[in-house]
Amino acid sequence: DKGEYRHFMAKEIHEQPEVVGRTLAHYVDMAEGRVVLPEALPLDFANLSRVYITACGTAFYAGLVARYWFEQIARLPVEIDVASEARYREAPLEKNGLTLVISQSGETADTLASMRYAKGQGQHTLSVVNVPTSTIARESSVVMPTLAGPEIGVASTKAFSCQLTVLLCLAIAAGRARGTLDAAGERRLIDGLIKAPGLMAEALAHEPAIEGLAREVAKARDVLYLGRGTSYPMALEGALKLKEISYIHAEGYAAGELKHGPIALIDESVPVIVIAPHDAVFEKTVSNMQEVAARGGRIVLIGDAEGAAEHGLDTLATFTMPALDPVVAPIVYAVPIQLLAYHTAVTMGKDVDQPRNLAKSVTVE
Ligand code: F6R
Repeated sequence: DKGEYRHFMAKEIHEQPEVVGRTLAHYVDMAEGRVVLPEALPLDFANLSRVYITACGTAFYAGLVARYWFEQIARLPVEIDVASEARYREAPLEKNGLTLVISQSGETADTLASMRYAKGQGQHTLSVVNVPTSTIARESSVVMPTLAGPEIGVASTKAFSCQLTVLLCLAIAAGRARGTLDAAGERRLIDGLIKAPGLMAEALAHEPAIEGLAREVAKARDVLYLGRGTSYPMALEGALKLKEISYIHAEGYAAGELKHGPIALIDESVPVIVIAPHDAVFEKTVSNMQEVAARGGRIVLIGDAEGAAEHGLDTLATFTMPALDPVVAPIVYAVPIQLLAYHTAVTMGKDVDQPRNLAKSVTVE
């Protein structure tokens, strides 16, 4: 039931404050300011030398964000690959190590196969899945469910933000176990995290302005998305979301890679969506924005007031997200990224819930 919404995708975007809140309540002891994993893991994070992550599409991008979190918060090295490669690479995985698989449906053929490969190598498997009765949930050693509820729109939205939420909780738990995060540090991160649902609601309030910008983006043939740090996988996700429902060619790049090729594409016809909260790498991203501006590129900044006051450049549009702990930025910034793809596709008259050539659950490789 779409309720008051025109499409399931719109409904699912708007449900995010609620479902992220529900997922958080499941993994966080709010009073203690502490992550509580519902199931005992059959392994100790303190003894792990690395974690392997495998997934497809949007779930893979959630894994790419998590790589920054595991490395920065828990000093835990991460190896990550798309499942369609991971299953055939014949990577040597150490016995009793950890493979983390991420999947909304829990039925994606490549993700399942890469999980089975890891099991065959003697790895423990931890799945972050949205469908608790799915094959991946059943076959993994431990399940950490995302509590997004059924996701009907083919483009993943609320499952993605819930995956990020679970993965950040897991990285926090890993940091505690590895002694890289003390109780005060954990409480600070939890304080940031429990604000996320309210901040997502604030982000949703930008919808009318994003809809206005979507009419411009709908005229473009190509769109570039740029970001650094955790905003880099968010740029990849933004580009995927736009291309899969609007059929506009879009590419996500690490902002620092701009000068290594994609800068050749920049002119006034290519909107450049820059995802840049005011974090440790913001200044570096500004220098990339300057390169874009110098070539007549039209910049759309998804950032915050602090950054907007600092960069001094003309933009086609600026969306000012609420101030937040940069660690949780991906969860909140998912909202404007999804809204832009949604409204661009709707403006173009596309079927956003059932885009051509795509299936909700990819059970063949
Ligand atoms: C993009 C999208 C796909 C899925 C991918 C993995 O919006 O929905 O890229 O993320 O097919 O699907 P799951 O998460 O079900 O394994």
